[in-house]
Amino acid sequence: MIRVKVPATTANIGPGFDCLGIALSLYNEIEVEEIDNGLIIDIEGRDEEKIEKNENNLVYQSMLKTFQRIGYQPKGIKIKQYNRIPIARGLGSSAACIVGGVMAANGLCGKPLSTEEMLELAVEIEGHPDNVTPALVGGVVVSCKDEGQTTYIRFDVHEALKFIVAIPEVELSTKASRGVLPETIAFQDAVMNVGKSSLLVAALMSGELEKLSFALKDRLHQPYRIKLMDSLENIFTRGEDLGLNQLFLSGAGPSIIYLTWGEEAEKEKKFYHIIKEAPEEWTFQVLAGDN
Ligand code: HSE
Repeated sequence: MIRVKVPATTANIGPGFDCLGIALSLYNEIEVEEIDNGLIIDIEGRDEEKIEKNENNLVYQSMLKTFQRIGYQPKGIKIKQYNRIPIARGLGSSAACIVGGVMAANGLCGKPLSTEEMLELAVEIEGHPDNVTPALVGGVVVSCKDEGQTTYIRFDVHEALKFIVAIPEVELSTKASRGVLPETIAFQDAVMNVGKSSLLVAALMSGELEKLSFALKDRLHQPYRIKLMDSLENIFTRGEDLGLNQLFLSGAGPSIIYLTWGEEAEKEKKFYHIIKEAPEEWTFQVLAGDN
């Protein structure tokens, strides 16, 4: 039996659309074994009723693609998923299933694929690298996909960073959330994002955390996506009015993260307050980075 543990991830981190991601201290676990025939899938945990238990299951699909890549044909497969990452909330639940499936299948075959080969396959399945890369290697990851090739640099998440994650009951699919993005954007918006994203990476690497509050603004995706849910626009507008500059949409949303490094109790209280006033039902999880 092979057991893998895969972290949740938050992608984009404000301005780093499709290239920045951080692994978080929230994990799915998957156990797989080869059986004599057929497919058995058992799921336990958060959103278990929403996860497919048939051939469409994403862990299973990712395992099949990995077996194909390796050239192995299993007789049958048994999968047990312990799910803790909420589905379709912008916390990398799909990436965790994909990476979990690829790692598990690779493990069953005696680990013939390297991390780079597993990454290539995971990016092919997910389409963009910013969730699957930190799900596979942990930490903060800058990943860039160009002409079918993905290159990344990984470094540790600063231990002082605290991710206050607000998760709404309502789901939002990445497909729907990518569907509202514009075909083109204004040159000055691109320039702003390049500057903020570069500053963000430098601040995370150097530990100059006080620079983060200036770095997290985005003009490529958040302005379009927050219009998808009534409360999102309101939360971001109120947050801006109250000087909560470290707010960003996690991945494609709808979860929101307030990024802090302690000694910001008053601002944290304001964040909780704004979210509690929103019409939808939200829950909070305070997470650290996963290294
Ligand atoms: N970068 C992706 C997006 C992350 O924003 O659409 C979601 O999977």
